[in-house]
Amino acid sequence: MTNKFESSNPLALVTGASSGIGKEFAAKLASGQSAFNQKHDLIIVARDESRLNEVKDNLESSYGVNVEVISADLQTAKGVALMKERFKDRSRSIDVLINNAGYGYSGNFGEVELKHSIGQIDLNVKALVSLTYFAIESMRRSGEGYILNVSSVAGFMPAPTSAIYAASKAFVTNFSQGVREEISGTGIKLTCLCPGFTRTEFQDRANVDQRNIPGFMWQNVGQVVDAGLNGLAKNHGLVTPGIHNKVLVSTTHAIPSDVLRTIAGLVAKRL
Ligand SMILES: NC(=O)c1ccc[n+]([C@@H]2O[C@H](COP(=O)([O-])OP(=O)(O)OC[C@H]3O[C@@H](n4cnc5c(N)ncnc54)[C@H](OP(=O)(O)O)[C@@H]3O)[C@@H](O)[C@H]2O)c1
Repeated sequence: MTNKFESSNPLALVTGASSGIGKEFAAKLASGQSAFNQKHDLIIVARDESRLNEVKDNLESSYGVNVEVISADLQTAKGVALMKERFKDRSRSIDVLINNAGYGYSGNFGEVELKHSIGQIDLNVKALVSLTYFAIESMRRSGEGYILNVSSVAGFMPAPTSAIYAASKAFVTNFSQGVREEISGTGIKLTCLCPGFTRTEFQDRANVDQRNIPGFMWQNVGQVVDAGLNGLAKNHGLVTPGIHNKVLVSTTHAIPSDVLRTIAGLVAKRL
């Protein structure tokens, strides 16, 4: 990374930083206006290089931090290999990993093209697992570091028409909780963030009809990212932003699975 500014800032890598939640993570970390209370230099990752360069220019000029752009398709082995290389670079190690890139694709599993289902597993599960591995391997050397894995409340329930997406997020939540216990005491902190409906490009990309989703269910990226960074700085295991999402998650734990599945089916038909 060639530094534009003199800096002793910690370094954060944010995936999916070209839009939505990831772009907000990058901005909050760069600005120093987060629970970490300090500015971060950044490595921002996504496929769209021109959007990443816009984010870079904006953050560098607004906050005087150094931003490196890596254009990578994390659904591919080549994209994941680029991340492996970056984590291995000992000239400047990564202090914070925000494992945020992810996507959904709406439709009945047996009717949408299989590539969309496998693609979600490649990005939401396989890439996230690999990056978590690279981060732990590198952070073990310094004996400290922060990892935040972005999951979803969808991971707590069956989700007809988003079955693969919900299953991928159930994996992320469960995986994160298990690994968090394994690394406790090493100085590496791992938090899992489970947002509900958040206003980003996600729903349009996933082809989800948003008209029947009630207004109170929505949060903005600022609320979600503040909750995530607060939980990460305080070493919380699981963060569910918003009272309505907390109620939703507790309800899914309280009701029998047959009933939960039937309700989920009825909700999916209304969307
Ligand atoms: N929005 C919600 O309602 C919601 C709710 C719960 C959880 N989440 C989770 O929050 C995370 C962020 O989503 P978002 O809402 O911010 O959606 P978004 O606005 O669509 O942003 C997704 C980001 O991921 C990047 N990305 C997508 N495919 C990629 C690939 N193959 N390789 C590398 N980067 C890729 C996109 O950039 P490029 O297209 O440039 O690659 C973009 O920067 C996801 O994990 C999502 O599952 C979202």
